[in-house]
Amino acid sequence: MKKLDKIFTGDIKEIVDFKFDEKVANVFEDMLRRSIPGYSTIIAVTGMFAEKFAQPETNIYDLGCSLGASALSMQQKIKQPGCKIIAVDNSPQMLQRAKDFVDNSKFQIPIELVEQDVTKVNITNASVVVLNLTLQFVSPEKRLNQLEKIYRGLTSKGILILTEKVKYSDESLNERQSESYYDFKEFMGYSRLEISRKRDALENVMILDSLEYHLERLKKLGFSRVDVWFQIFNFVSIIAVK
Ligand SMILES: C[S@@+](CC[C@H](N)C(=O)[O-])C[C@H]1O[C@@H](n2cnc3c(N)ncnc32)[C@H](O)[C@@H]1O
Repeated sequence: MKKLDKIFTGDIKEIVDFKFDEKVANVFEDMLRRSIPGYSTIIAVTGMFAEKFAQPETNIYDLGCSLGASALSMQQKIKQPGCKIIAVDNSPQMLQRAKDFVDNSKFQIPIELVEQDVTKVNITNASVVVLNLTLQFVSPEKRLNQLEKIYRGLTSKGILILTEKVKYSDESLNERQSESYYDFKEFMGYSRLEISRKRDALENVMILDSLEYHLERLKKLGFSRVDVWFQIFNFVSIIAVK
C-alpha cells in the first residue's frame, strides 16, 4: 500500500528547504503520482526510448534515480546484449527504497545503485542517459558541465532523455501554465495551503531554466536532434540524440 503524501499538512511552524530525506522517500510514489502530470507516461516512454536506442555492450545511466522508476522501466524493455544500468542518487534514503524494488525485479539486466552526486559520476560508453526531473536540483552553474560530460560520454547515436519543470520566457504564458499546474495539484487532492507550502520549500532548491534555454544549450553542445516529445503545463521531456 502506497503511503499518502501529507508532508505539507497540519501544524507547520516554519517552512524549511525541501530535502529528499526519509520522510519524502517514504511517500515518494504518491508524491510523484500526484505532483508530476504525466509521470507514468514519462517513465513508460523512457523505457520505450531505451528499447530502441540502447546499444549492445554499453552503459545506461539513470541520474537522480530516486526509487529507480526509470531504471526499472528501461530494464524491462532493453533487449540488447551486454547492457548495464547505473542508477545514481545522492539520497541514501531514496537508494535504500530503490534497492527493495531492484531486488524484487525479475528482469535480467543488472542495475547498479550508486550513492553519489551526479556531477561527480563518470559517464563512459553510454548509449542512454536519463535525467528525469533531476537537473533542476543541480546548481545552475554546474549544469552546462554536467550536460557536456554526458555528451562526451555518449556513444555515436546515443541519447539523453531530459525531463524538467521549466519556466517560460513569456511571463503571461508562464503564469497561465503555473496556474494550470496548481489546478492539477488541487485536482489530485492537495489543498491550496499544501501547494503553497511546497512551493516555498522548493524555492531555493529547485531552480528552473526556460524551455528555450534548455533546447539552445543542448543544440550548442552538438546534439544532432533535440526534440520535445512530451509537454504538459510547465513540464517537458526532451530527447537529444548525439
Ligand atoms: C524529482 S527526483 C527524480 C525522480 C526520478 N528520476 C524519477 O523519475 O522517478 C530528484 C532526485 O534527484 C536526486 N538528486 C538531486 N540532486 C542530486 C545530485 N546533485 N546528485 C545526485 N542525485 C541528486 C534527489 O535525491 C532525488 O531523488
